[in-house]
Amino acid sequence: MKTIAVYPGSFDPPTFGHLDIIERSSRVFSRVIVSVAKNLTKDTMFTPMERVTMLRKLIRPFPNVEVDSFRGLLVEYVRIVDAHVVVRGLRAISDFEYEFQMAHMNKKLSPDVDTVFMMTGERYSYISSQIAKEIARFGGKIDDLVPPLVRDSMVRKLGGKR
Ligand code: PNS
Repeated sequence: MKTIAVYPGSFDPPTFGHLDIIERSSRVFSRVIVSVAKNLTKDTMFTPMERVTMLRKLIRPFPNVEVDSFRGLLVEYVRIVDAHVVVRGLRAISDFEYEFQMAHMNKKLSPDVDTVFMMTGERYSYISSQIAKEIARFGGKIDDLVPPLVRDSMVRKLGGKR
């Protein structure tokens, strides 16, 4: 049976933690669609197109992974791409409450969609896009947090300041 999974998120920017989940999902599911949420209420460093472009470069080693974007409800998008699984990474207990609420809400909205959680690899468990942005803004080293192409894009966004 071919299982299509959607890995949704803000990916602002993609981190090594996201890449870990992408790589491992690619081994579990027949096809993985990494999908960038476009209608975020939060301020973002990168436009949706910029995030899609970075992700497309990062997923090149994984032939069964593709990158897309969506607007509106996640479950609607999942239905349109004919998937039944949503993948989310869990780093720590602190992620749980939000993820629990989202998974249950999505199940209520679309009972045939299941959320599958993957524990983010231990070495990536402290990484978040938010932390990477904050460190970069203050000129700190982010090489252990984001892939080189993301780091370079962040440095460019911040006007070359490191
Ligand atoms: O990387 P993030 O910011 O934790 O991703 C959250 C995201 C984008 C997956 C979530 O906010 C989402 O699914 N947004 C789309 C709108 C939606 O369906 N909201 C209801 C979820 S209960």
